[in-house]
Amino acid sequence: MSSVLSKKPSVQPFELLLDQKQIARRIAELGAQITTDYAGQVPVLIGVLKGCSIFIADLMRNIKLPVELEFIAAASYRKGTRIGDNIQFGGELSVPIKGRHLLLVEGIVDSGRTVTVIMERLRKLEPASIEIVTLMDKPRSHRTKIDVKYRGFSIGNEFVIGFGLDNTQKYRNLPFIGRLLDE
Ligand code: IMP
Ligand code: MG
Repeated sequence: MSSVLSKKPSVQPFELLLDQKQIARRIAELGAQITTDYAGQVPVLIGVLKGCSIFIADLMRNIKLPVELEFIAAASYRKGTRIGDNIQFGGELSVPIKGRHLLLVEGIVDSGRTVTVIMERLRKLEPASIEIVTLMDKPRSHRTKIDVKYRGFSIGNEFVIGFGLDNTQKYRNLPFIGRLLDE
């Protein structure tokens, strides 16, 4: 095998921020809160791919109500941990949204631009309500005025990976949340 092919992929240094137990406990609390708040309703969970992937699977199993599940894709152009300005969308919703209670489910809210743009689009479809659910939130990084109703954890202005969150598409499969360290 050539030396190029046998080279191991480089791993960026990170440290543990939240372990599996802490995350599971918090998601159970969020699910219980949503179960209470939406009693008697059939909310539509709209996952923002790809960062929501692991979170939404755990969250929905902690909501003891009938729910519907939809996904939309949003990718902000960024190089590594740097923020780009454009947000690219994909995916179509397969259920009528008018008059429905929507829960927009994100892995992480940073500047808030992604959720703001998605909310603007969803509002045009005249839902009964829209709330944001995010596993991780960086309140000090918000650059738009957003109201995050359900938040798993608040963190500072740092870059985290794992539990669905990536750095250049890798590390989403880590079962915990890690904080990237400067090299
Ligand atoms: P926003 O539009 O600035 O709120 O950025 C939201 C998107 O940026 C998220 O959906 C993530 O894809 C990505 N992002 C922001 N901060 C992080 C982080 O710390 N780790 C991984 N992805 C992040
Ligand atoms: Mg990303």
